[in-house]
Amino acid sequence: MTTIVSATDAGLAQAALALQQGRPVVIPTETVYGLAADATNPDAIASVFAAKSRPSDDPLIVHVAPGLLRRPRVEGLIDLGIVADDLEPAQRAAADALVDAFWPGPLTLVLPCGPAIPPSVTSRLPSVAIRMPAHPVARAVIEAAGRPLVAPSANLFGRISPTTAQAAASELQGRVDLVVDGGRCDVGVESTVVRVDADGGLGLLRPGAVTRVDLERVSGTSPYDVGASEGTAGSPGRLLRHYAPATPLVIVPTGPSSWPEARWSDLRARLGRGAGRLAYVAWSTPAEAARTALAGLGAQVDVRTLSPDGTVTGAAHALYAVLREVDDLGADLIVVERPPGGGGLADAVADRLQRAAHGTAPLP
Ligand code: TXA
Ligand code: MG
Repeated sequence: MTTIVSATDAGLAQAALALQQGRPVVIPTETVYGLAADATNPDAIASVFAAKSRPSDDPLIVHVAPGLLRRPRVEGLIDLGIVADDLEPAQRAAADALVDAFWPGPLTLVLPCGPAIPPSVTSRLPSVAIRMPAHPVARAVIEAAGRPLVAPSANLFGRISPTTAQAAASELQGRVDLVVDGGRCDVGVESTVVRVDADGGLGLLRPGAVTRVDLERVSGTSPYDVGASEGTAGSPGRLLRHYAPATPLVIVPTGPSSWPEARWSDLRARLGRGAGRLAYVAWSTPAEAARTALAGLGAQVDVRTLSPDGTVTGAAHALYAVLREVDDLGADLIVVERPPGGGGLADAVADRLQRAAHGTAPLP
């Protein structure tokens, strides 16, 4: 049985006790819900991998809170044995600057691993990923448990991350006892993951709400894209198919008014010459207008609008809830409009959409 509890004192105490006893608990963060467990307990870690059906070579993020740290910045992490004590000066300076600027918040740092973290957390990599979430309930749970917590997104491996307690509970039904409800996640996509190199250079492993420009402003160096040089090695969040609904998904660059004829006919063919069902995710066009524009398909069309106000923050906030909703419609195909423009959070949204679309032949 999976129970959702409110983030009251009693709910937090129940969560803290479960975590101290080595049982995983779903907690809210500002990005997505996480399946939390004691980061220093190998049995608890094993339960997390099992509950998510996650392969053991996909490392976890260690979550900390201000109340755990006796000293600020990286020193506090070294004290706890999370980070190694022999960082290069440039590496430590770069990490400290990022911690000062972005913690608590949606930024995960990858640094040399310390002795307190079991090898299963890092998939035996010499590095560890750490973040300090900004969500007050995440902070309260970590501090009540009194230990660092791993918290991978609370979904089955490869599927859509949950952004509400209800979505997390339905995703992990029967696989976890307790879900702490902290409301709808603010950001809506997973944290930015950045590797801090020995020379202070930054490798961007996963785009998120802390953007390339933000990182550049604080570090004075321009982050390089790890995916380009190293492929999926070491960071399986970079798996090509990830964050994916069960329904085939394709991305379109714009709304229907500018589609070439080849795209229309390919779509008609995929929808069984009009007998099928299409789930269409417009960027900001109102549902009724998008449905009218798609009437020529002759298919049953369900429309959702990702960002009625046209903002990227609105789109990121709604993305996973909308994808879950359209995945449950039983459609033959999901078509999603890509963010207009790029850079910043739009890159994170486009990154998740590309991974969700991997494996489905693109439209012409
Ligand atoms: O926003 C988030 O980060 C959410 C919330 C719950 O905090 N958590 C999350 O965890 O997204 P997860 O496990 O779904 O994603 C962890 C990412 C993966 O891409 C993984 O490969 C990468 O972090 N990662 C973890 N440890 C790493 C390491 N030592 N080196 C490189 N990448 C690492
Ligand atoms: Mg995940």
